[in-house]
Amino acid sequence: MYVRVCNSTELSDGEVIRFVPDGEEEGIAVCHSDGEFFAIGDKCSHGNWSLSEGFLENCHLECVLHGSAFDLRTGWPDKLPATKPVKIYDVKIEDGDVLVDVSSGRITQPDDENFAAQR
Ligand code: FES
Repeated sequence: MYVRVCNSTELSDGEVIRFVPDGEEEGIAVCHSDGEFFAIGDKCSHGNWSLSEGFLENCHLECVLHGSAFDLRTGWPDKLPATKPVKIYDVKIEDGDVLVDVSSGRITQPDDENFAAQR
């Protein structure tokens, strides 16, 4: 189920916002990076820190607490201390709005197409 997060003009390239769907406890970090929109689980898999407080660069969202950066395409961290991925979500732009499919959250596996593409 796609849910409107914001208008795409409200999220500039290089920005990330935290979005909590109605009735959910876990937030989603919605990111605009390198001209594309992405959504990943907001809770860092290392220390439960909010990833939306971090920094975006080259389709990675860096956790401000210990520096692991999560690939927005796969949800996997690029370096220690985090070793586990976070969920990724489907995103689309419709009539200028950023929509996230809140029911699409999933952990990618090493044989997933997105994961293999970057290895
Ligand atoms: S809490 Fe995110 S890397 Fe440690």
